[in-house]
Amino acid sequence: MVRDPGMANLPAGVELVPGDLTSPETLRPALDGVRSVFLLWPLFSIDAAPAVVDLIAERARHVVYLSAAGDDGGRADGFWGEIEQLVERSGMDWTFIRAGGFAANTLGWAGEIRTGVVRWPYGAATRALVHEADLAAVAVRALTEDGHDGAAYHVTGPDQLTQAEQVRIIGEAIGIPVRWEEMPVAEARVVLLNMWGDPSFVEKALDGWASMVGTPEAVTTAVRDITGAPARTFRQWALDHADDFRAA
Ligand SMILES: NC(=O)c1ccc[n+]([C@@H]2O[C@H](COP(=O)([O-])OP(=O)(O)OC[C@H]3O[C@@H](n4cnc5c(N)ncnc54)[C@H](OP(=O)(O)O)[C@@H]3O)[C@@H](O)[C@H]2O)c1
Repeated sequence: MVRDPGMANLPAGVELVPGDLTSPETLRPALDGVRSVFLLWPLFSIDAAPAVVDLIAERARHVVYLSAAGDDGGRADGFWGEIEQLVERSGMDWTFIRAGGFAANTLGWAGEIRTGVVRWPYGAATRALVHEADLAAVAVRALTEDGHDGAAYHVTGPDQLTQAEQVRIIGEAIGIPVRWEEMPVAEARVVLLNMWGDPSFVEKALDGWASMVGTPEAVTTAVRDITGAPARTFRQWALDHADDFRAA
């Protein structure tokens, strides 16, 4: 499901249905004949979420929701936890994928990577970034196999790396040296506010990175446990996306 099939850059043969999560009624055609739904909520407002979950519950039986991990892999504060509760109350079967940080977030540095310097706060914040292919592999299992109803999986990558190390590894993948330059937190706050708009989301992100300086993001074995294959490393992810960083 995409908002604009004309703009979707997906391989030939992928069936596209239009739909917009902010306009629940647009989802009706996309739900025709659907038993299981993979739900993400890539929005800062959850105003439309109750109507979307109600509509899904009218048609489908099972939701796999791509959520985020709270402390120790438990329920996260904020909209992730609220959507989990909406899904639980909907009466559908559910599976939650409580993800750690996405490796793909580092694509936000692509422009700076090409200059050889990334300026960002909290270079020592340590994350266990997860490859989107592993999130997809876990989601496919949850959507197509029995035995995942009522499960909340804390899904992470296999290696703990500081943000400064992530930048170095991306540089190695594309064959140029890239170094980290620490951005003062006050400056980062302004940059993030311009980018995201929502001050509470900005403070949550800054607090999260600050806490990961002392306490690295946990590594779990969920990818291996659920799919039978080891989680892909961040180095693998950077090699898989080398062209995305090289592109002008
Ligand atoms: N990034 C992280 O580190 C992280 C960590 C834990 C959990 N999560 C969760 O994972 C999910 C995906 O995150 P992400 O960072 O990959 O999100 P994202 O890149 O911002 O968005 C993913 C997709 O959502 C679609 N989309 C955006 N607005 C939409 C709308 N109004 N209606 C329908 N589709 C819409 C877009 O597709 P089209 O433009 O083609 O419509 C886009 O490709 C979210 O639920 C997020 O909360 C993210």
